[in-house]
Formats: sequence, structure tokens, C-alpha cells
Amino acid sequence: MSALKLNRLAKKCFSLFPNYSTHQIRTGKENRCNEISHRSSELKMNGWQIHNYGNCEELQYATGLRMPLIRNANDCLVRINTTTVNPIDVAMLGGYGSKIINMLRCQEAKSIEFPLILGREFCGTVIQCGMGTNNKVGVGDRVWGVVPLQMNGSHAQYVIVPDYCISTAPASLSDEQAASVLYAGLTAWSGLYITGRLGGLCGAISSSGGGENKRVLVLGGAGSVGSIAIQLLKSQKVNVLATCSTDAIETVKNLGADYVVDYKNSEEMQSLNKFGPFDIVLDCAGQGAEVSSQLNMKFHQYITFSSPILKNVDNHGIGLGMIKNVTNFIETNTKSISKKGGLVKYGFFVPAQQGIELIHRLVEKKQLLPLIDSTFTFDRLPHAFERVQNGHLRGKVVINSIN
Ligand SMILES: NC(=O)c1ccc[n+]([C@@H]2O[C@H](COP(=O)([O-])OP(=O)(O)OC[C@H]3O[C@@H](n4cnc5c(N)ncnc54)[C@H](OP(=O)(O)O)[C@@H]3O)[C@@H](O)[C@H]2O)c1
Repeated sequence: MSALKLNRLAKKCFSLFPNYSTHQIRTGKENRCNEISHRSSELKMNGWQIHNYGNCEELQYATGLRMPLIRNANDCLVRINTTTVNPIDVAMLGGYGSKIINMLRCQEAKSIEFPLILGREFCGTVIQCGMGTNNKVGVGDRVWGVVPLQMNGSHAQYVIVPDYCISTAPASLSDEQAASVLYAGLTAWSGLYITGRLGGLCGAISSSGGGENKRVLVLGGAGSVGSIAIQLLKSQKVNVLATCSTDAIETVKNLGADYVVDYKNSEEMQSLNKFGPFDIVLDCAGQGAEVSSQLNMKFHQYITFSSPILKNVDNHGIGLGMIKNVTNFIETNTKSISKKGGLVKYGFFVPAQQGIELIHRLVEKKQLLPLIDSTFTFDRLPHAFERVQNGHLRGKVVINSIN
């Protein structure tokens, strides 16, 4: 196609998106230009929104929603094929973290609180790219990705995400599998490598991983984060011990854990003592910082993904909440240093290209396989929320048939 024809086609496409200028959007590879040739009727989308915090009844299916717009040069518009429901979606539905997340939403994402679309990860197709996006993905590419907490999520037909939140999806994974890896995967990766410094400085700033011969205890090895943490650690030749319920022991052993115990069996839990001190105890079971000093084994670091930070601000406001956060942190660390000889730290989901690259590589080498608990069609999304709310998950709850 000649440059002139391409230019004309691009202009035609942009005329359907009156809020965009030709400076804001890349057309991508020329043979993929027709990907953005939507008829104007397709500028609407369907999705699940909430207008208030509450329970699953607040989830409302809406047709004719305005498609999200690219506002920043590094943003991409993605059509969603599959997505998931995480515990964070259920928590955010109930208003968890609303004070801080809403502050970020208004400042960074230049958006308002309601209506809010939940959903933190997906597999989809790139429809448009802003002019400043990296060239790692292009229009028409099949991608997997995550959505930062302050942005409207993936429980809809389309989503806007910054380019660093997506990359080409591994060809070996189905759409359901590809949607189910990155939110939990980047949580496990950042907990271990950014918070825990398992692979030293390089492990945190590159996709090199690391941690050979270290010893890590994973609490909650059968859940989404725990099951990925175990596989990630085993791929780096870390010695992995894990806890889970009786019925999940076989599954967790199959993920590669060297030693697995039933957390409801106090004798088995006692037996972990002889393996201490652990380099890291990774709490993927919602236990929180308090539990660290009740465990009967020593550790250098106890990293929990259930920090009190957002809840303290929800309950006490920003000022008093932050003071509480500092005092909580000092109290739990004083206890844990004196009783266990190690620090308590908080781990968080961090969308980072180096984490995505490491996870992608492990998937390609078949060292990391997604664990799916159940699959629901898009029209049954509230049932998926109930499934997550009821707990005892064995992997991820996935949503397909998005239309
Ligand atoms: N801070 C962040 O950025 C961030 C990001 C992602 C997740 N998280 C948090 O991290 C935690 C894990 O998330 P997830 O998505 O993996 O949740 P999940 O899929 O629900 O997994 C939790 C697992 O823990 C098991 N479990 C419950 N109580 C346990 C105990 N006392 N000991 C050992 N295992 C226990 C559960 O199975 P059974 O009940 O059958 O034993 C389940 O398999 C959640 O609390 C979540 O909110 C935080």
C-alpha cells in the first residue's frame, strides 16, 4: 500500500474517533490498519459496571457504554478476549482501598470514581496504540496484560492500558490461560524480587530472576499467587516448602514444591521448624503481618501480600491512617525481630516489563503453567465473583465469551 493510500485510510479511521488527533495514534503495521476501521456503531461497548460499593448485586451489565479513549501517548486500546476475577476485584467491589485508589484515579488517570469497571488482567487484541508507545506490540497483536488499580478495568469489551502493562501473549497458552497469569504472577514476582530482593539488585531491576539454593516457605500454595510463586521459585532452583489444605497437597506437590504440609495439621506445621531459618516466608494466604510472630519457625523476611495500608486509610482517613500504618509497621517488626530474628515486609502487585519478561520466558520453557480453578462466561460474571468470595480457590477464576 502506498504512503498516500495509508494516510487516507488512517484519516478515515481517525474520523471515527473525533477525540483523537493523528499525532496521538499510531496506525501500526499497514496490513493491520483495517483493525481500527470500526463502524461508528462499534464505538460503543458492553461491560460490567458498579455505581456504588457493596455486594455482587452492585454489578450491572450495560450495553452502549462509550468505548474508552486513548488520552496519553503511551496508552494502548485493547479488545478483551478473556479476563479473570481476583480477590482484589471482590475487595474493590466492597470499597476496599477506595480512598487512596480514588485519589490516584482522579490525579493520574484523570477519571472519576463511578461508574467503575473492575477487572485487573486480560488476554486480548491491540486495536490502537498512542504515538509514544514502545514498539514491542503493534495493532492486531494478541497480548496479555494487567490494568493498574486506578484505571478502569477489563470486565468490558475494551480497555485502555499503558504500554508497559502489556506484551505479546505466549503462543503456547489458550486465551483463558493467558488471561490468568500476570496479575498473580507480577504480585509473586515483585514480592520475591522487589520486596524480598531474592535475586539481589539484578533480580529486581531485570528479568534475570535468581535465588538459587535459597529456602522459601510459601503459605497458601494452591491459590493464584501461591501456585505461581512456587513454579517461579522452582525454575530458579530455590528450595520451596509450602502449606495448603489437605485436598490440595497433591496439586501443590505437582507444581514442584519440595515439601508440602497441611496448614490445619499442627504437627505438620511444627515440622517446618526444622527447616528454618527461611530466607523468605511468603504469605499468599491472606494471613497478614500479625501472623508472622505466631509462626513457630525462624525467618529472615516475612513478606505478606495482605498489608493493612489501604484499610487503615479507608477506616481513619489519609492523615491518621498513615500514622497507623507507621505504628503498625514498627510494632510488627519489633515483635518479629525479637521473636523470629527477621523483618516483616509488605509485597504488592507491580506492573513491570521485567517481571512480564521473566514470566513469559518461563511459560515458553513450560516451567510455569497456569492453574485454573473455574471458567465462567461473561454474562455470568457475578457468579464468578461469588466463586472468589467463597474462597478455597485452586488457581484462577477465568471469564470468557466476552461480547
Ligand atoms: N498486595 C497486593 O498487591 C496483592 C495482589 C494479589 C493478591 N493479594 C492478596 O494475596 C492473597 C492471595 O491472593 P490469591 O489471588 O492467590 O488468593 P486465592 O487464589 O484465594 O488463594 C488463597 C489460597 O490460600 C489458601 N488458604 C487460606 N487460608 C490459608 C492458611 N491459613 N494457610 C495456608 N493456605 C491458606 C486458600 O485455600 P483453602 O482456603 O482451601 O485452604 C487458597 O488456596 C490474598 O489475600 C490477596 O488479597 C495481594
